[in-house]
Amino acid sequence: MKQIKLSNGVLIPQIGLGTWQITDKELMGTLLEHAYNLGYRLIDTAAAYSNEMAIGRAVTNLPLERGELFLSDKVWNTGRGYENVRKACEKSLKKLKTDYLDLYLIHWPASPKLYPDWAGINADTWRGMESLYKEGKVRAVGVCNFKAHHLKELKKTAEIMPMVNQLEFHPGMMQEDTVSFCMAEGIVPEASSPLGNGQILQNDTLMQIAGKKGKTAAQICLRWAVQKGMVVIPKTVNPDRLAENMDIFGFELDEEETRAVDGIPYCGGIGIDPDEVIEFG
Ligand SMILES: NC(=O)c1ccc[n+]([C@@H]2O[C@H](COP(=O)([O-])OP(=O)(O)OC[C@H]3O[C@@H](n4cnc5c(N)ncnc54)[C@H](OP(=O)(O)O)[C@@H]3O)[C@@H](O)[C@H]2O)c1
Repeated sequence: MKQIKLSNGVLIPQIGLGTWQITDKELMGTLLEHAYNLGYRLIDTAAAYSNEMAIGRAVTNLPLERGELFLSDKVWNTGRGYENVRKACEKSLKKLKTDYLDLYLIHWPASPKLYPDWAGINADTWRGMESLYKEGKVRAVGVCNFKAHHLKELKKTAEIMPMVNQLEFHPGMMQEDTVSFCMAEGIVPEASSPLGNGQILQNDTLMQIAGKKGKTAAQICLRWAVQKGMVVIPKTVNPDRLAENMDIFGFELDEEETRAVDGIPYCGGIGIDPDEVIEFG
């Protein structure tokens, strides 16, 4: 398993399992068993996914030591603020049946459309994240869906900069400004929806490259992101696809193929701009 070193030295697996929209306990149990057997060690969840308890239960049935697993979780928008984020983390730890997280992320930045003091809210939440890190409740801290201007603002007050920024990244949605800002600041970019939520896999360019290389369009998306230094967290409930998504380390895209994928226009995905968001529950 290829791993990437975060700015504090913690190693994160370069591929993990996304779990958004998987809530069924039995399904989670068999899925994590398959994933474990295939070598998946990073599991990405969020308080908002309503599956932390299912994951906690499934993990206790796996034949591994806690240290072999990389558990990544996110604080929801209702947990913003110093005290709230600390309480939210305690709740998540209980549900996941663990006493620490490997990575804890702010799920969404406060939206300027809703909060005139969005920067102050993000800074206060981040102070809570830093306190959890210093206390050893979380081995690494980061954010999701922060654009470069959110990160620049956070940098003014942060004692510790985020180690990861999880953001939507797939062919047709590269968020180049934010990704290059992250790279320059030593923040590891992690691709959420690396398959465009399954909506981009019929794209002609992807299918042509996949056909030529004897791979699938999904493998081309994941390989392309991994070659750019991204962590990828594809979601699937299908054991064959779990294996397919993991099998991306034995081939390479050349420059021409990479350029062709870079040039794909927007063709599907989640596509939410955090600055345009009015309310998120
Ligand atoms: N931080 C955030 O705000 C944020 C936002 C979105 C996502 N995420 C994280 O990123 C993870 C992945 O994103 P996502 O769930 O939006 O979508 P995704 O991983 O881009 O795509 C998942 C979709 O593709 C299908 N799929 C998976 N592997 C496939 C393959 N090899 N061939 C064909 N189809 C395949 C899945 O269907 P089956 O399950 O039926 O196989 C599912 O419909 C999430 O689960 C979550 O952990 C985070």
